[in-house]
Amino acid sequence: MAPLQITPLHPSLGAEVAGVDLSKPVDAPTRQALSRALADHLALVVRDQALTPAQYLAAASVFGPPMEQHYSQHNMPDFPLIGLIWHQNGQRPAEQWHTDHTNRERPPAATILYGVEIPSAGGGTSVANMRAAYVALADAERRRLEGLTTFNSLDSGHTDTRQEDRDKYGTPIEHPMVRTHPVHGSRAVYFHITKATHISGMTPVASRAYMTDLLERMIRPEIVYHHVWRKGDVLIIDDRATMHRAHGDYDRRQRRVLWRIIVEGDRPRLV
Ligand SMILES: [Fe+2]
Repeated sequence: MAPLQITPLHPSLGAEVAGVDLSKPVDAPTRQALSRALADHLALVVRDQALTPAQYLAAASVFGPPMEQHYSQHNMPDFPLIGLIWHQNGQRPAEQWHTDHTNRERPPAATILYGVEIPSAGGGTSVANMRAAYVALADAERRRLEGLTTFNSLDSGHTDTRQEDRDKYGTPIEHPMVRTHPVHGSRAVYFHITKATHISGMTPVASRAYMTDLLERMIRPEIVYHHVWRKGDVLIIDDRATMHRAHGDYDRRQRRVLWRIIVEGDRPRLV
């Protein structure tokens, strides 16, 4: 396979990758190069892909084993490891900054989205560099965060979670608020504001207020890549050092369908 061409899309994070066809088997050197590029750039965009569900699952496995998603009512019936993001079926756009599935002991290393139907305007996905957010904090606050952990469960605000998913994925899991990237070696701020029931040593109300304040202070335009979708885009997001959010600012009479795969990562730790 020809070498990959990697072109940064934003000064802080995000890169477009050319020279790979994800519908075909990806050889070992290319898999390694893609994993390294993800750790370095935190969001990768591969354009103009045409993938069946089976091809998409094979391509996603470059970044780790696909893992079950806990809103199982939205999974593709014949390919349950692919979740459908489709707001016309009753889902709301996830407009709050977050990282995925922090209620798992080994949360996803990456979230992968494939643009199947794209509205004519709006409906983008933003990704924030939480490695840069960590570096930008004052020393005292970095030290404070390094000593804190969150306790994570299913989102408190989602009323449509199936009982079987609550039983499987509702057990509280503790994670550090700063984690070391297993490939890159750098640190990033890590939490999910609505999956964290509380921060260690803090009440739920004080925890929510502190996380809200952190998000407002940390996520500035300089550390955000905004992805404008084109049909056929594959967007790979490194969940170990970013947060992301959807934008519901599109004409809801139009269809916006993304296929989502999450792939297994390491247990977050601070070293
Ligand atoms: Fe998400």
